[in-house]
Amino acid sequence: MSYLKDKCVVLAVSGGIAVYKAIELLRLLTKAGADVHVIMTRSAQEFVTPLTFQTLSSNPVHVELFNLIAEREIGHISLADRADLFIVAPATANVIGKIACGIADDMLTTTVMATKAPVLIAPAMNVNMYTNPIYRENEARLVRLGYLFADPVCGSLACGWEGQGKLAAPEVIFEAALAALSAKDMAGRTLMVTAGPTREEIDPVRYISNHSSGKMGYAIARAAARRGARVILVSGPTCQSAPFGVELVAANSACEMLAAVMSHASRCDVVIKAAAVADYRPVERNASKVKKHSDSMTIELVRNPDILAGLGAMEPRPFLVGFAAETDNLVEYAAKKMKDKNLDMIVANDVSRSDAGFNADNNRALLLFRDGRSKDCPLMSKDALAERILDSIATELNGDRG
Ligand code: CTP
Repeated sequence: MSYLKDKCVVLAVSGGIAVYKAIELLRLLTKAGADVHVIMTRSAQEFVTPLTFQTLSSNPVHVELFNLIAEREIGHISLADRADLFIVAPATANVIGKIACGIADDMLTTTVMATKAPVLIAPAMNVNMYTNPIYRENEARLVRLGYLFADPVCGSLACGWEGQGKLAAPEVIFEAALAALSAKDMAGRTLMVTAGPTREEIDPVRYISNHSSGKMGYAIARAAARRGARVILVSGPTCQSAPFGVELVAANSACEMLAAVMSHASRCDVVIKAAAVADYRPVERNASKVKKHSDSMTIELVRNPDILAGLGAMEPRPFLVGFAAETDNLVEYAAKKMKDKNLDMIVANDVSRSDAGFNADNNRALLLFRDGRSKDCPLMSKDALAERILDSIATELNGDRG
């Protein structure tokens, strides 16, 4: 499932060296199932030909305001009407200035002015233009009017200057596009998600850990941010990249994760504990590398604190969601964990199957609720499951169980 599936997205491209990045953005949008229609300004065509965008979008590219064929078949007004989302990337200072002042003198500015769809603008320009008070006023006016921005980043600019003005990465603009189309049913809520494994160190080079990739927790954090929540992601060591718009807090061991979670817990409305916390840690961490002296060795372990049980004992406590990774007696063990740790909901995973769960891209789960209800989520992507989990949490929090 994707918010972009079968959505009509207008991708308006204005002139600048960053036009090539719009090609990658187009690829991400079409891969997510969007029907993308590209508009190019005259100067954008100086950098990349319309044919590239036409081939990748499988739709004709709009380059002129009055094109007899396009007017008959689509036309700038009907394109504006059909759009579910309008993206301007890269957006030059000139185009942004025109939009802010209501100037509609080409295909791009005419269509953006005629659309009622959300408009996402990704600026790219010289740093001095970006900080120019005229530009700042134009942007502030558009923000006030509800236009969305994917801010440029700092770096060395094509013009030779260093500073903020580089077009945001295509993945970041894509994420902002998803957010623009998401329901905002988590707005005003603070949500903490834990993700990934913990590492319990034996010595400076060795540790005890598990196969958790962090994918599930990161998917939940990303989806919650799109839905308008303030998200704190407490993460063990993973290879996942930090989700857009999420506050990332790194925690290596279970004890570090406990400290990070507890320092934020009282400000959270919801805590979702997707992390695979190691149950035990070595009694002692050797300060120097342990050398091999014999054919066998024993490491004495001690129980780690149960972070979720600690949250369950808080008074008052946030809405608590746990995960139960089981190989047998899924429902029975998960229900017991929910009761023992005083949770509102638990996501029960059967980790005995190789197509789902730990380290896989997909997952299937049974959502169990405190009052005995349950919801089955068949095999689906972790992104889709994240949305299902958040749907259930939003329903519980907003009290519209129906
Ligand atoms: N959990 C936690 N702190 C721990 C262990 C687990 O917060 N020290 C949380 C996990 O993040 C998960 C839930 O408790 O949300 C259940 O974790 P799981 O490993 O399935 O269960 P355990 O409680 O550790 O029990 P067991 O290993 O005996 O199945």
